[in-house]
Amino acid sequence: MQKLVLAVVCALAAGPSLANDPNIVAIADTCNSCHGINGVSAGLTMPSIAGQNKDYLQRVLLEQKKGERYTTIMDRFMKNISDEEIAALAQYFAAKEWVPATVAVEMTQANQGRQVLRKTCQNCHGEKGDKNSGDVPRLAGQWPGYIRLETFKYVDRTFTAKKPSERMAEKVHNLTENEHSAVAHFLGTRK
Ligand code: HEC
Ligand code: HEC
Repeated sequence: MQKLVLAVVCALAAGPSLANDPNIVAIADTCNSCHGINGVSAGLTMPSIAGQNKDYLQRVLLEQKKGERYTTIMDRFMKNISDEEIAALAQYFAAKEWVPATVAVEMTQANQGRQVLRKTCQNCHGEKGDKNSGDVPRLAGQWPGYIRLETFKYVDRTFTAKKPSERMAEKVHNLTENEHSAVAHFLGTRK
């Protein structure tokens, strides 16, 4: 019995090395056809996933798989991927370097966006929008078009699917259209 427990513990401990498994690399390559080479998106509304924290990636992918999270397309891809493979994929992409989006700064918008970040987002997302741990993904350097699409889900009253974060919904649903675009722009210009 003890041996069996030990074997299970070892199998679990061995799990992480799956990230280098050719099978995982092959699955990751299918992700890259949308998310960009090595998970670095070429824009404009597609999120970069390389360098996001492992816990966030793993949770989101599991939620997508189980249909517990609104997605346009991701649920279809995740359906056939096992929970172990999801853990390995999360580790694979988390270990990659974060590469910021390339966005030309528009000063007026950026200044307004900085204020919105300070007032409304920084408590959870960090002073620079670069907090990247636990349930929060990095926003600094993410594509503004994608950030905007995500925040629409929090403000659009006709969008009735479960909001990924009810706590965030409470804070952001009163912002104006301009404030949302400005903060998305500002975050996108961060490195
Ligand atoms: C056909 C294009 C496509 C493929 C292939 C694809 N994705 Fe996605 N992914 C998207 C889109 C679009 C979104 C934005 C959410 C949505 O609308 O579903 C997204 C969202 C995500 C998110 C959430 C990002 C965030 O910051 O919250 C993660 C994580 C993710 N994908 C990982 C993966 C992984 C891992 C794979 C491969 C197993 C994959 N995707 C394959 C299109 C794709
Ligand atoms: C009360 C805490 C809180 C506040 C305030 C908050 N957020 Fe969030 N935010 C979260 C959490 C938690 C998540 C992860 C939820 C999830 O997707 O599962 C998140 C996710 C996001 C995402 C999705 C990221 C991705 O990669 O898919 C965007 C975009 C975002 N927040 C933008 C903002 C902006 C812009 C503000 C300020 C206007 C803001 N948030 C304020 C907690 C917060």
